[in-house]
Amino acid sequence: PTIYLITPTYSRAEQKAELTRLGNTLLHVESIHWILIEDSDFPSNLISNFLARFQALSKNRSNIRVTHLVKRTPIEYRTKLNDPNWLKPRGVLQRNEGLKWLRNNRNNIDSRGIVYFADDDNTYDLRLFDEMRDTKKVSCWPVGLVGGLMVERPLVNDENKVIGWNAVYKPERLYPLDMAGFAVNITLILKNPKAFFTLKVPRGFQESYLLKQLISDISELEPKSDKCTQVLVWHTRTERPNLKQEVKLKRPSNENIEV
Ligand code: UGA
Ligand code: MN
Repeated sequence: PTIYLITPTYSRAEQKAELTRLGNTLLHVESIHWILIEDSDFPSNLISNFLARFQALSKNRSNIRVTHLVKRTPIEYRTKLNDPNWLKPRGVLQRNEGLKWLRNNRNNIDSRGIVYFADDDNTYDLRLFDEMRDTKKVSCWPVGLVGGLMVERPLVNDENKVIGWNAVYKPERLYPLDMAGFAVNITLILKNPKAFFTLKVPRGFQESYLLKQLISDISELEPKSDKCTQVLVWHTRTERPNLKQEVKLKRPSNENIEV
């Protein structure tokens, strides 16, 4: 089955570096369809060129398919440069745009496909993609370096059923896992055409908000990664680069150079 990776991305100094790193990972994975959604009103040259290069590279390797979409977060929901990162939800409308694309293209997509929300800054072990590929409804696994813990994870019994969570950050969440901690079979996405993320829930509740539209309780979750004892994805975050010497230059250091 194809894995549909939904990746929101936004323009900032380190964007190309992040996507290069993620792209290099994906070049090692079979049957991927990468849906990249820019937080913008129009496609940027940077991303268009990146995807063209990426597609060419992948031809000789895993033959990844790529879809380039755009959806801009309205001004009142946008994180400003000096806002703390937890103030506003991030990537919400972009992920919804990816879901819409899948539904609009239901006749042309792999009906056995899997949907995974892959943020552009996380770190993905190649084995994660093998784990998620046979998701029947919703699969889940631990995520490293998130929720204020070394690992946030589902607790799983000997029968490989989820029986609870180790979450400490907002443990009242219905499904206290990170966006990187689950994948969904495409049939659930198509069967529930109104299931979306929303700008209207507090931070940390996106995942629960979506999942409660797709499954009725934790008994429907399929634990992966050896009964959720292995970390195959990390919620890494990139330090904002220090560019303060730029102001001392008459011309920007990257004049005519894409960084
Ligand atoms: C955490 C979660 O891991 C995210 O899945 C969740 O979307 C986010 O919190 C949230 O606050 O809603 P965090 O590392 O803080 O993630 O967020 P980012 O990685 O900065 O953003 C998540 C995704 O949205 C990234 O792929 C990023 O490129 C994209 N994004 C971010 C936008 O498209 N627009 C923005 O203005 C900011
Ligand atoms: Mn992130």
